This record gives sequence, structure tokens and C-alpha cells, in this order.
Amino acid sequence: MNYIGSKFSLLKFLEDSINEILSKNKETKQSNEMIFADIFAGTGCVGAHFKGLGYSIIANDIQYYSYVITKHMIENNGNLDKDRMSVLINELNSLEGIEGFIYNNYSYEGTEGKEFRRMYFTADNAKKCDAIRQTIENWFTNNRINQNEYYFLLGSLINSIDKYANTASVYGAYLKKLKKTALKKMDLTPLPYTVGHVNCKVFNENVNTLISKISGDILYLDPPYNERQYCSNYHILETIARYDNPIIKGKTGLRSYKEQKSDFCVKAKVCDAFENIIKNANFKYIFLSYNNEGLMSFEKIKNIMSKYGDYFLYAQEYRRFKADSNRENKADSTIEYLHCLVKRS
Ligand SMILES: C[S@@+](CC[C@H](N)C(=O)[O-])C[C@H]1O[C@@H](n2cnc3c(N)ncnc32)[C@H](O)[C@@H]1O
Repeated sequence: MNYIGSKFSLLKFLEDSINEILSKNKETKQSNEMIFADIFAGTGCVGAHFKGLGYSIIANDIQYYSYVITKHMIENNGNLDKDRMSVLINELNSLEGIEGFIYNNYSYEGTEGKEFRRMYFTADNAKKCDAIRQTIENWFTNNRINQNEYYFLLGSLINSIDKYANTASVYGAYLKKLKKTALKKMDLTPLPYTVGHVNCKVFNENVNTLISKISGDILYLDPPYNERQYCSNYHILETIARYDNPIIKGKTGLRSYKEQKSDFCVKAKVCDAFENIIKNANFKYIFLSYNNEGLMSFEKIKNIMSKYGDYFLYAQEYRRFKADSNRENKADSTIEYLHCLVKRS
């Protein structure tokens, strides 16, 4: 998934930097004896990577679509019958389209005669999305699929439909003309999961409240680093995941996101929110991914983390996220920093 701030291409950098810090402590346990928490999980790729390395994973995100995807990638673990899953995927792929919420609000044909015409998906793909979404819910309600299968199928839908969205990258706006990938016929493809530790748990909470309920060995923090709220940039994925017929508004058909606004996107609040996490974290090792253009200054991060133990810093040059190409700063690479804290007990 093309996601703002995804760490997919930085996994090796994270793994190497974390290993280097852990290797300084002779008493460090084996990975399968340690809990790794990824509490701003997004696409779930960091938690999934460390699950593959043997860690027991705690994952979390405030967005429900992220929770669904991560529930599958992190909590499912060889418990799905592959043949049965491919039968279900084929069945969903061959459904007749339905004129449901996505078609009626986010396709050009479905919004004809309405106050706002929107072109997020072709009529066919929107109808197919509605048909698949409704069928997954019916199957679950009627016990044809269990909860693990439910998250697998729903996660696969969210991951698949995103490839056909008629956007430059995020759902804050749609393109005026249908782009090539949006015109393709949607194909539901299975979202893979990572085989690893059987003891993994996924949450859908605000980190500010979650932090005092969890504990472990390694805490990985990857908060938003600028004002762009994920809830408004991925609102359609949220609605597909919840499928709760929300009241939507304006040109882009935005759902209300009051409860999901992040303090990490607000300059006046971010430092307090960050310190709250560091202070209350019941973890020995804390790692923060943050780039050099973030709302929190470097000095501020260092000052906050150093209050609670020994501070280290790793850096790597990183290619800029595609949606950033319109910005004034046209450099196509940026430096990604990994701030580390070995917390005093
Ligand atoms: C930079 S992205 C994480 C990307 C992720 N590491 C990946 O590789 O896909 C930040 C994530 O933090 C989530 N988030 C922001 N504020 C949050 C909060 N207060 N509590 C929980 N999650 C939050 C957003 O929904 C978003 O998915």
C-alpha cells in the first residue's frame, strides 16, 4: 500500500539500528522471548517484519482500516486454510456489482444529480467494492467465515481497492480525469500475513491512552511528523473498513473524524503528547522514527528522550513520499532519523 510515512523501504535500516543497540547489552534476550510494540502501525509492515524475526508483537493504530489490515498480518499465523481462502477470494471476485455506499457517493455515475459529483472510483470498481464488502459482512454474520477469515478478507479488500483509487496518492482529493490504474478492473488479491510468534495482539486505540496499558521490551514509535491527519487523508478506506453509512460532507465526501485527530499533527500539542508516551512507556528500549522536517525539532526530541535515560541517534537518507512532489521543497530525498532511548528503570 502506498501510505504516507510507510517504513517499508526502511525495514533493514530499522532492523540493523535496533540490533546494534540491543547488542550493546549482554543480557539482551533472544528475539522470541521479547515483546516488540509498533503502536503507530499504519500498514503494519514494521510489526510484520519483526514478527518474522521471532518477536511477539503488539500493534496498534487509531485508524480502523489499519487495525483490520494489521489484525490479519500480525494476529493470523498459519491458522487459515489456504485452499479455502482462495475459494472465498474467487467467489468474491466473481460477484455481480451492487449500487451501495461507495458507488453512490464516490463514483461519478453514482453521484449524478447530487450536490457534489465525485470520481474516486469507476462505477464498476465501486460497485464491486460494495458487493464484496457486503458479502464479507453477511458471511461473518451468518457464520460462514470466522473472525480470522473476516479480517483476512476485509484486509485484502482494503489493500486491493486502494490500487484502483483515482487519486494522486491520498483521498484528500480525486483526479479530474480517470487515471490508467483507476480504469483497470478491480481484482481482489489476498493480503499476505507473516508467519512468526503465536502470541501477538492488535489494538485500535489512541496511543495516549494505550501506553499505560501495555508493556514489553522494544517500543517502536512512528507518529505522523507534520500537520497532515491520516483520518482525513484516508477517509474512504476508513469508510470501506467500517461500512457504517456515515454522514459525509463536501467535495471529497469526508466523514467526521473528530475522535481520530492526532495530537502528533498539531504543533502546539505534539511535544506534550510525545513526552507522555516516553514517560509512561513500560519498555526498556524506545525507538522513534522522525524525519528532519517534522513538527518537533531535533533538539526537543533529544531533550525529552535524554530526561529518561541514554539517548542515541541513527540516520539514513530516504526517498521522499510521492505525494510530496508538489511541495516547495523539491528535493527528492530526505533524511530519516531513528532516535533511540535506553530507558532508566
Ligand atoms: C507514519 S504512519 C505509520 C506508518 C507505518 N510505520 C508503516 O510503515 O506503514 C503514522 C500512523 O500513526 C497513526 N496515528 C496517528 N496518531 C495516532 C494516535 N494518537 N494514536 C494511534 N495511532 C495514531 C496514523 O493513523 C498512521 O497510521
